Amino acid sequence: MRHYLNPYDLTPSELSNVLSLGQDIAQNTDKYSNFCAGKILATLFFEPSTRTRLSFESAMLRMGGKVLGFSSADSSSAAKGESVADTIRMIGGYADICAIRHPLEGAPMRAGMFASIPVINAGDGAHQHPTQTLTDLITILGRKKRLDNLKIGFCGDLKYGRTVHSLMAALSRYSGNTFVLISPQQLRAPVRYIEAAQEAGTPCVECTDLEENIGQLDILYMTRIQKERFVDVKKYEQVKGSYILTAEKMEKAKPDMAVLHPLPRVNEIAIDVDNDDRAAYFEQAQNGVYVRMALILALLGLAPFGKLASKSDEKTNSGINVETESKAKCQNRHCITNAEADTNAVFARDDNGAYKCIYCENPSEALV
Ligand code: NCD
Repeated sequence: MRHYLNPYDLTPSELSNVLSLGQDIAQNTDKYSNFCAGKILATLFFEPSTRTRLSFESAMLRMGGKVLGFSSADSSSAAKGESVADTIRMIGGYADICAIRHPLEGAPMRAGMFASIPVINAGDGAHQHPTQTLTDLITILGRKKRLDNLKIGFCGDLKYGRTVHSLMAALSRYSGNTFVLISPQQLRAPVRYIEAAQEAGTPCVECTDLEENIGQLDILYMTRIQKERFVDVKKYEQVKGSYILTAEKMEKAKPDMAVLHPLPRVNEIAIDVDNDDRAAYFEQAQNGVYVRMALILALLGLAPFGKLASKSDEKTNSGINVETESKAKCQNRHCITNAEADTNAVFARDDNGAYKCIYCENPSEALV
């Protein structure tokens, strides 16, 4: 059984199959209207969502399946103190596949360890959001007809923006890409994601000015400042409204640049950009349904391209191989291991010999 917890959990060839299937589904949605008859998707959302949860539900319903779930932690037994491990243990009896969103980093991985059904990470804290990445990739593919040799500008909250972390990981697997990372100093992308991209051969340039850099980009990926991740509201106030894309700024961009945004937007993109042909964000949100249909089919073994191998030969789980269980605490206080008493921190060495927490990928200085 396979889970989809981070972008590396599909090999490049599997990813290509899923994206092609998503494209076919977009063209011939009705053809798939019975593919999930008799199957149930559980959506376990411990954090707010509009597009992700509804597009998962729409995906399953459009394939003749059924859905159940909850849309906030308050309406689940998490409010009574139940652990993720306990919650997920029963879900296998209630559904055939599940999508989980959780504020704690690594919660979907924890769920995957105890689940008897495929688990999909629908966003875990500031860590990863790999199905948004599928949505982003299929949109880029639609606009540019390729995923390589692109200059991609990521703009806004690159520190807490989980969609950015996942998309950087995914796009760094293709050759010839360059990342232009545009953010306030306080919201720079975590070093580990930049290093991983560079090691994969993707140059990263960090800067703070959108207008100065927009002219060189093939893709501009705008993001919302993730207010809910700030511990100190004053720090949010200092950076809110840092970047606002307007029709005037778009005049400096290439005629075939595409503007993406995972949505919701607050004020990062002025509405005068919406009618620009280069605005791809609403098309991107629609693509989320098709590509999630493709992912569900792949994980259930119902895709026309056949079953996924039971365990991928190529790197999964960010290349982490579990090596060291430790009494040491993960230093990331938003990691599942620090919130749930029954979850021991587990550290593993990456390819460079550095230790990282397997749940949230935070480097562990304690063990280095
Ligand atoms: C994103 C998320 O939840 O991380 N939204 C989404 O899933 N489309 C981005 C965001 O909330 O800013």
